[in-house]
This record gives sequence, C-alpha cells and structure tokens, in this order.
Amino acid sequence: MNLPNMLEAKKRSKNKVNYEYFNLDYSDKFKDKKYYIRTYGCQMNVHDSEEIKALLERIGFSETNTMEESDLVILNTCAVRENAHDKVFGFLGRCKHLKKEKKDLIICLCGCMAQEESVVNEVLNKHKYIDIVFGTHNINELPNMLLEKIDKLNINVKSIEGDVIEVGNLYKRDSKTSAWVNIMYGCDKFCTYCIVPYTRGKQRSRKSIDIINEVKYLKENGYKEITLLGQNVNAYGKDIENEINFSELLESVAKIGIERIRFVTSHPWDFTDEMIDIIAKYDNTMPYIHLPLQSGSDRILKLMGRRYTTEEYIKLYNKIKEKINNVAVTTDIIVGFPNETEEDFESTLNVVNTCKYDGAFTFIYSPRIGTPAASMEDKISLKEKEERLQRLNEIVNKYSLENNQKLIGSIQKVLLTDISEKDSKKLCGYTENMKLVNVECDKNLIGTIQNVEIIDAKSFSLDGIIE
Ligand code: SAH
Ligand code: SF4
Ligand code: F3S
Repeated sequence: MNLPNMLEAKKRSKNKVNYEYFNLDYSDKFKDKKYYIRTYGCQMNVHDSEEIKALLERIGFSETNTMEESDLVILNTCAVRENAHDKVFGFLGRCKHLKKEKKDLIICLCGCMAQEESVVNEVLNKHKYIDIVFGTHNINELPNMLLEKIDKLNINVKSIEGDVIEVGNLYKRDSKTSAWVNIMYGCDKFCTYCIVPYTRGKQRSRKSIDIINEVKYLKENGYKEITLLGQNVNAYGKDIENEINFSELLESVAKIGIERIRFVTSHPWDFTDEMIDIIAKYDNTMPYIHLPLQSGSDRILKLMGRRYTTEEYIKLYNKIKEKINNVAVTTDIIVGFPNETEEDFESTLNVVNTCKYDGAFTFIYSPRIGTPAASMEDKISLKEKEERLQRLNEIVNKYSLENNQKLIGSIQKVLLTDISEKDSKKLCGYTENMKLVNVECDKNLIGTIQNVEIIDAKSFSLDGIIE
C-alpha cells in the first residue's frame, strides 16, 4: 500500500490525531484475523468503508464476504431515514446470534447512526453485545480502539466539529477504474428535515492542493474516472479563506486530464453560471447533474429551508439543458413532508412534468429526532403518503423510459467497469451522461471506454453491443 506524504500530513493537520499506529507493529495481533464489513447509506459512507478497509488491512486483517467466517463485523450505518436505522438493528440481531456461537467475535457499529445520541444510548441499554462504537470523525482511531479493546464497550464518538484530516491515499478502493475523491466533509445547509449536518458536522473543505494531488495520483495509477464527493460540493471552499471555489476546482481537476470527472451532490442554491460553463467547456467533465428538487411547492420548499423557489430551480434546469450538450439530469424528491397538501404534491408533479428527469430517487418523508421538521405537526396519513409516492414513481419511471428510448440506435461511450449483475456473460458500465448499459462483449474490455450501440432501453438500464 502506498502511503504518500504521511509526515507532511501530520504536520498539516491541526487535529490531535494519533498517527503513531502507523509505526506500531500490529501484524502479529491481527494476523490471520478476518473482517466483514457492511455499508449502508450514501457514497460518503461507501468511501469511508474504503478507508476503514485500508486501515484494517494495514494492521493485519484480511477481508471476508462471509460474516460467519469473520472475527470482526463492522456495520457502517446511515441515519437519513427511519428504514435505514431499522435495517441496521435488524442485522444486529443476526450478529448477536452469531456471537453466541463465536464468543470472541468483535462487533463494531460506526457511521452516521453512531453520531446519534439516541443510538448510543440504545446500544448502552439494549445492545450490550456490541464491542466498539466510533463516529464519522474517528475512523482513523479504529486500530487503536481494536488494540485497546478489553472486555468492555469502547465508545469513541467525537462532537460534530473537527478539522480535515489528511492521511494520504489510505483507501482500499473497491474499483480499479473509478474512484471517489472527498472534497469536503459535513454540510452547513441545515435543511429542516435532514440529519446529515448533525451526523457529519459543519462543512469542512479539503485543501485544493490535496485534492489535485490525489487526482494526479489516481490518474498515474490507471484510474479512468473520479467522482468528487461531498454533501454540497458546489459550496466547496466557502468555509476556508483564500481557497478556490468549486468551478475553479473543477477546472483544475479537468486540466489534469483524467478521462472522466463527475461530482455529487450539488445544491441548486450554490449552482453558478461559471460552473455550467466549465462543465460545457471540458470534454472530461461529464454531462450529468444530480440536482435535488425535494419538492415542487414553494410553500414546502420554504418550510424545508431549501433557499430556492420552483421558478428559480426551473430557470437553472433550463440553463443546464441549454448549455451542456447531451446532459442528463436526475433528482431527489421527498413526498409527505409535514402537512403537504394535495395541491403541494401536484405542484411537485408539475415540476417533474416540466423537467422530465432522466431518473429520480423518491422518498417518503421520515422524521429524524433533533431536526426542526420532526417537531412540526403532521396530519397526513402514511397511507396517503404511500399513494403519493406511487403516483410520483409512475410519472418518474415514464420519463426515465422515454429518455432512455431516445438513445436506441445511438452510439454511446461506455466505461466498462463490472460484470453485469443481470447476465454474467455481459459487462456493464455507464455512458458519459450516467446511463447504465449492459453490453455483450469480451471480459477483457473491463476498465476500457468503448463505443457502444444502444439496441434496447428500459427505465433503469440500456442494452448495447460494441460498435
Ligand atoms: N446533500 C444532498 C443529499 C443528502 S441525503 C442534497 O442536499 O441533496 C439524500 C436524500 O435523502 C436527500 O436529497 C433527500 O431527498 C432525502 N432525505 C434526507 N432526509 C430525509 C428525510 N428526513 N426523510 C426522507 N428523505 C430524506
Ligand atoms: Fe441534508 Fe440539505 Fe445538507 Fe443535503 S444540503 S445534506 S439535504 S442539510
Ligand atoms: Fe446516510 Fe450519513 Fe450518507 S446519514 S445518506 S450515510 S451522510
């Protein structure tokens, strides 16, 4: 494993992070030990798991895909909706059962749920078989926590403050082709329904020089695609003095010459014309924007604290469509925000009918303890919310299918990344504008970009053949 700039990183960090474990020899203690990791939630968590894996392998563990075979189970959790929470506690039941047979099994809960006080209390009171809890700010303390672990619950959850910690390219990346690159942590937007600012803390941008060096490193190591990651990427740099903004960062990264650059998620409020111009100008900034709408009712948007009106959103959407060739736009929508009326909901459908999205992630509003919306009165029944979700999904899927069908007969550049989940004889990958394509072709083409003719289309994927 390459560990560039460790000493420099140590100097730069203002945090009192214990880097000494890099010099300790853990390899005997954890030699032949196996870990099993399960990741819930967004790309931020997926990338955090890549970091957790690298740390564990650095101290002697190896990965297993079978929980029964493991000595350490790690659950990297999400707190964004109640069902994410329920899934984790459901799975913990299985862990508890396994621990009865395997007394030395170490069970570890981390990620966004670990940042919730109510969850930590629940663990203390009801789930005493859990051995380690660490928060989203304490990932690099895991090796020490494992070493220290005696026979008591070891909890290490920091407050939501904290500096950006640079530990170099210490990730066991899932892919050899596409890589996640954090550009910022946390979020300052405090949308009234959302728990993320509480679990991930205030916005902290990484230094642009560190991001640029990481992208150069990835390019040198054969990566074809990077995705700049953050809850609110286009607010990049606003929290530090003398830093470039997101458009400038995007341009600097584009100039490095890696084949494909993506970013997720951008907030409509921070979207600038400059950003659109950069995406339009460079061939390697991909024509795909995830632009969360959340609601199409101005009344609800205000209650959500989203900082834009539907008129402003649609204006931005039209600009993106006009200026960026072949751009695809997807969105996130919440139905059933407290006291959302039928009229509010129909306004959301109107925006969907105007924007005809390429895809949308749709959710029923889920109250999260500690957020302002959770204490708002709500008279709308769950049944009604479920019906709205279904009506919305029908329209969303109709437009996804229509947009995909328009591509039949066209030639798309596809970065082939994996064996297709649907058919092991095929490979799959994404077009420049982020459409999933299953392609009948030689497996040796994994990791390459190919011209693919689209021969069929469904709502969520395309079929193609090599041109
Ligand atoms: N930072 C991103 C996304 C954060 S979470 C953004 O601002 O768009 C991903 C999505 O989960 C959100 O876009 C929202 O649609 C949904 N979400 C967040 N909190 C939720 C809640 N309490 N109930 C239901 N959906 C929620
Ligand atoms: Fe949550 Fe809003 Fe921040 Fe997105 S921008 S993470 S929805 S608070
Ligand atoms: Fe979930 Fe945390 Fe991401 S709450 S959506 S894993 S930032």
